[in-house]
Amino acid sequence: MTAELGRLDAFPRVRLGHGPTPLEQMANLAAQTGGGRLYVKRDDCTGLAFGGNKVRQLEFYLGEAESRNADTVLITGAVQSNFVRTAAAAAAKLGMDCHIQLEERVPDTDAQYRTSGNVLLDKLFGATLHSYPDGEDETGADRRLGEIAANLEAQGRRPYIVPLAPGHKPLGALGYVIAAREIAKQLAADDIVIDEIVVASGSGHTHAGLLFGLRALGHDVPVTGICVRRDTTAQQARIADRCREIADLLDIRSPVADGDIRLIDDFLAPGYGQLNPPTMDAIAAAARAEGLILDPVYTGKVMAGFLQRTRQRGKEGSLLFIHTGGAPALFAYGERVLPA
Ligand SMILES: Cc1ncc(COP(=O)(O)O)c(C=O)c1O
Repeated sequence: MTAELGRLDAFPRVRLGHGPTPLEQMANLAAQTGGGRLYVKRDDCTGLAFGGNKVRQLEFYLGEAESRNADTVLITGAVQSNFVRTAAAAAAKLGMDCHIQLEERVPDTDAQYRTSGNVLLDKLFGATLHSYPDGEDETGADRRLGEIAANLEAQGRRPYIVPLAPGHKPLGALGYVIAAREIAKQLAADDIVIDEIVVASGSGHTHAGLLFGLRALGHDVPVTGICVRRDTTAQQARIADRCREIADLLDIRSPVADGDIRLIDDFLAPGYGQLNPPTMDAIAAAARAEGLILDPVYTGKVMAGFLQRTRQRGKEGSLLFIHTGGAPALFAYGERVLPA
């Protein structure tokens, strides 16, 4: 383990994902957008249950769950959450029960949204589903999950909660500290120099973990987070907090300066889980140029931001898109994702 990453090795971790994930060039997309050299880190290929970034994060949460001898995992998220779907699959694989709480974060949903995509998979993996009426109440959602856990405990179960609200150890971010090391190794092996990395910024575990890992390993490449849930002001504070918490976990000084936290919220409107024309165009562009499957909630918006950054950097630019998965949600949105 790399000394710069402090106590990373000391955390319990279960291997759930396939890795290292490929790092590929997107020559067609570059040709079609007039960009320079464009690359994609294929974390949609982490393997378990359609893959995605949450596989890396869950390796640490479920490592802790196993170390505590838990027999039931509890997690909360949006109705079409990839995190809860991946947790349900991981719990099944590890022989644990899974309780999922689905929050109403997206307005005006239809039957397809409520039954297809990730919801269908949650049921297929045998999870017990609960619903929470508010989508903007992280603390309340965590509290309700705590009540479900207390009930299970009273019945003799050993529950483990994957927490949502800030104020908990950001164990999931450690998965992206590891990803940072993997990316740095791949870039060095292939002699690739990157001018900018573009990544989703939601709970912030992926963004903060990646940024922290790269800086700790001595890489100063700009990392631009694309806001998918909150505006830049709220997200800036969130990423700064996560970075401080990662430093505490690893027991090293944070190598991240405030100026390192770069964010764009141009593609957030009209809100979390809601489409806009640049996102639909970006989803279609990636599919048609590279055969990549993006999603309407996260990676489609990130690709819209990536294409904006590509245009701004021009022919000389060399940019890396972190593909964090999310494909099942595409089916829950259906034809609404297609550009007009
Ligand atoms: C496909 C996908 N990409 C990106 C993200 C954002 O990652 P994070 O919550 O670590 O910011 C999520 C979060 O659920 C996701 O499901």
